[in-house]
Amino acid sequence: MNILLLGSGGREHALAWKIAQSPRLTRLYMAPGNPGMASLGECVNLKVSDFAAIGQFALDHDIRLLVVGPENPLVDGIADYFKTTPGLSQVGVIGPTKAGARLEGSKDFAKAFMQRHAIPTARYQTFDGTQLKEGLKFLSTLEPPYVLKADGLCAGKGVLILPTLKEARKELEEMLGGMFGLASSRVVIEEYLDGIECSVFVLTDGRHYKILPEAKDYKRIGEYDCGLNTGGMGSVSPVPFATAEWMQKVEDRIVRPTVEGLAQEGIDYKGFIFFGLINVKGEPMVIEYNCRMGDPETETVMPRLSCDLVDLFEGVVAGDLDRREVSFDPRAAVNVMLVSGGYPQEYQKGFPIEGLAQVSPDAIVFHSGTAVKDGKLVTAGGRVISVTCYGRDKAEALQQAMDNVQKITYTDRYYRRDIGQDL
Ligand code: AMP
Ligand code: GLY
Repeated sequence: MNILLLGSGGREHALAWKIAQSPRLTRLYMAPGNPGMASLGECVNLKVSDFAAIGQFALDHDIRLLVVGPENPLVDGIADYFKTTPGLSQVGVIGPTKAGARLEGSKDFAKAFMQRHAIPTARYQTFDGTQLKEGLKFLSTLEPPYVLKADGLCAGKGVLILPTLKEARKELEEMLGGMFGLASSRVVIEEYLDGIECSVFVLTDGRHYKILPEAKDYKRIGEYDCGLNTGGMGSVSPVPFATAEWMQKVEDRIVRPTVEGLAQEGIDYKGFIFFGLINVKGEPMVIEYNCRMGDPETETVMPRLSCDLVDLFEGVVAGDLDRREVSFDPRAAVNVMLVSGGYPQEYQKGFPIEGLAQVSPDAIVFHSGTAVKDGKLVTAGGRVISVTCYGRDKAEALQQAMDNVQKITYTDRYYRRDIGQDL
């Protein structure tokens, strides 16, 4: 069958890498894709926000499956567009409808959903611009640090963690006053949870689900988790504290109630659910939901799936995911991201990338922000390119990833050398 994958980052490169291994695939199209993905199929110059052009392309190229990488088109209703447009309703879509994507698109919806279904999460309240007084009052009932979240999508920038009540009060005023535009017209204030984070990924057809390998990502720019938040500087899978016992708690208290809750509320959800969890004294709690895979977690999760991903996708579309096999590679995988110096603030682009030919054949290179200029591969984003390596254990995978990532060079290259060392 022909598959169209939407997106252009490292996550989509990892999805394409896995899809391309499937015997069920005839042709893989990627919109817009990136230079690293070009060897896996055909990159087509379509914007992920242009639903009409994507729909027309699907009709013209006999696309049977649309796999949506990023959250924006899902939150904007691409699954609904395909469902309701003549000729496109036959195309299977991996990604929820707009109603389901609210798990990511609205923090307030996600928190209220968790409360309705008794899913463990931090205590919270939501306030809008008319409720500043009430918000300030709620803040004073909490202990520091204070967690403020813009309700809407903010490209990962909408969460503030403030050490003092004074700063929290000031930020709340600014957020409700329009700091993140419409996205912060409502603000969730929640209790701070102390623990280590872990990302758990599930694929669901709306009734059944399969739990995929878990991963931990490294969000801060600086080593030992200091500095600004980034899109993610590396990832590790499996996560040592995610033991069978812990994962059973995750399934019983979080995954199953979420999938059942969506079905009970009549929300059509076919696709990935990303559970951003935190381990609080041995108990898993939900920090956030996302309606798509994580980046750079996908760069370790896909290499650790040893089953056919397209078979799972077919199960999602057919509603018989319970009859499909999921299996994991027992090896550990570590991904290390190379970024542009200055990122996540200002940085320069267009530097030639060297050394790819020296990377070991066992290592997997995923492109995040690269471009081809005058026939040469150059940097074209904050996160540029990453390497995933396997090992018998985490230490071996880590060593391999660090050895290989150093072979790729460009001006102002930066990466974190401490990925995985906290585990
Ligand atoms: P989110 O966008 O909701 O994932 O939040 C971004 C990051 O903020 C998370 O990955 C956590 O590191 C942190 N965070 C969010 N909510 C909380 C919380 N209630 N307690 C502690 N840390 C949090
Ligand atoms: N790695 C976190 C995310 O994709 O949101």
